[in-house]
Amino acid sequence: MSYPESLPLSSGVLPVKNGNLLEFPEDPIACMRKLHCEFGDMAVLEDQGQRIAFVFSPEFNREVLSNSNTYHSQFFAIRGSRRSAQRTVTSGLLSMNGTEHRDSRRVMMDVFTRRILPEYHDTITSLTEELMADWQVGQQHDLNTEMVHFMLRMTSALLFGIDDAQYSVELGSKIDSWVRKNHEVGMGALVSAPQFTDMYDELLTMADDLQASIQEMFFRHRENHSEGQRSDVLSLMFKAQGSEQQLDDNKLVGHATLTFAAAHLTTAHTFSWTLFLLAQHPEVMNRLSRELAERTTGSQPTFEELQNCTYLEWVIKESMRVLPASSYSQRITTEQTQLGPVSLPQGTPVIFSQFMTHHRADLFEDPDAFRPERWEHSKPSAYEYLPFGAGPRMCIGAPLAMLELRTALAVIAKRFHFQVQADSVVNGQVISTMLGPTSSVEATLLPVTQSSRTVPVNGSIHDLVQLPAAAQPQTLRRAA
Ligand code: HEM
Repeated sequence: MSYPESLPLSSGVLPVKNGNLLEFPEDPIACMRKLHCEFGDMAVLEDQGQRIAFVFSPEFNREVLSNSNTYHSQFFAIRGSRRSAQRTVTSGLLSMNGTEHRDSRRVMMDVFTRRILPEYHDTITSLTEELMADWQVGQQHDLNTEMVHFMLRMTSALLFGIDDAQYSVELGSKIDSWVRKNHEVGMGALVSAPQFTDMYDELLTMADDLQASIQEMFFRHRENHSEGQRSDVLSLMFKAQGSEQQLDDNKLVGHATLTFAAAHLTTAHTFSWTLFLLAQHPEVMNRLSRELAERTTGSQPTFEELQNCTYLEWVIKESMRVLPASSYSQRITTEQTQLGPVSLPQGTPVIFSQFMTHHRADLFEDPDAFRPERWEHSKPSAYEYLPFGAGPRMCIGAPLAMLELRTALAVIAKRFHFQVQADSVVNGQVISTMLGPTSSVEATLLPVTQSSRTVPVNGSIHDLVQLPAAAQPQTLRRAA
């Protein structure tokens, strides 16, 4: 599964493969693995003069990610016409470049300042309690569906101050569907596939509807939250409007939409994977439980107590290493540029991949295995371990995401262990750029006094992570 030691760039022979560009969106990880095996640290997929370039090494990651003048972000391929709703809802940090990005990022850095993180602790704790209110030992749950819903609630509450569960699900689902449609249409635009252009009108209609919903949410927020009552990110954005003339409501619509889009499924998938990995690695789960019992008091650990839970931090870092929710991202060249041995024309998409980098055997010993202990000694550089990206566009919400994961995981793990259902199917796949479960992840709730067992599971999860031997499908184990 992990590919051989990194191959040198083939001397004299350009690492260019003729093939169907659609191979990439169909199965990004399989496509990247093939290219990496064949060509090494950099490769180009070419189809009738159209190219996508791929980089797989920390050195190339640095080159692409640190040079934001030559490599622009183009998260949304379809921006819509100047006055369209599509243009408004795609106008956030993810799609900005140059001075516009720098100036907006400065404003958003204030909004996401670490100083206010402790203020979110109580909201995260109480929403986690709400999640578990109906949970009882012996019940079976689909961790994937539960975490997607849980993080819809959490993200709506932390970002928009929404307290109404049904409303948060409606609005969040609308944003998620619109993001997904963008990727379908955008990938089609990237590779000029005619079948995708039919979906363009549908995308624009979704954007109209979404813009109206976000504006209505602003209205509700202003009605329900008094000035100075600071409990969510949107309140801070509204406050920033006071000192930033440029930050009108139209701009805020874009920032709010894209921040939600960046925050929701990334955290949900990270959660689902972490719970699944813990359940299938009982010795890790038990060590985590021991740490939580020793270093935290009561059922709701405090913000300060959680700062001392080193193993909890390792578990989350390792989960995001081996199954990074953001599995790849893309840039686009703004000028003709030389990348390794290849000269790329202006407008070439360049892909870098967290998944591929994190699974390199020259960076991480036994790279496909989930081993939180490695973090005691492993000190990768910013371009070797990059679940939140790296360089001037690194995830602005990373500290908040880590707080959510740390706090909610601790509250859950103090109450329950999880037993994955034996012989169930667990599939994982990249959709848009995100690696998440694409099947249910069925698990039974156990008391914390009971250790889970590693059980055989089927599905494409085995292509992504090397689970313990006892997790191999029954058929394979019999054959062995
Ligand atoms: C586990 C959860 C998360 C993961 C794995 C993640 C990952 C990433 C990555 C890889 C990037 C850089 C993309 C690129 O370079 O093309 C990014 C950017 C971004 N993320 Fe996150 N993210 C997470 C959670 C969040 C949260 C909770 C928020 C906000 C509340 C957020 C807001 C953003 C924004 C606004 C950007 C764009 C930054 C810029 O372009 O300057 N993310 N995220």
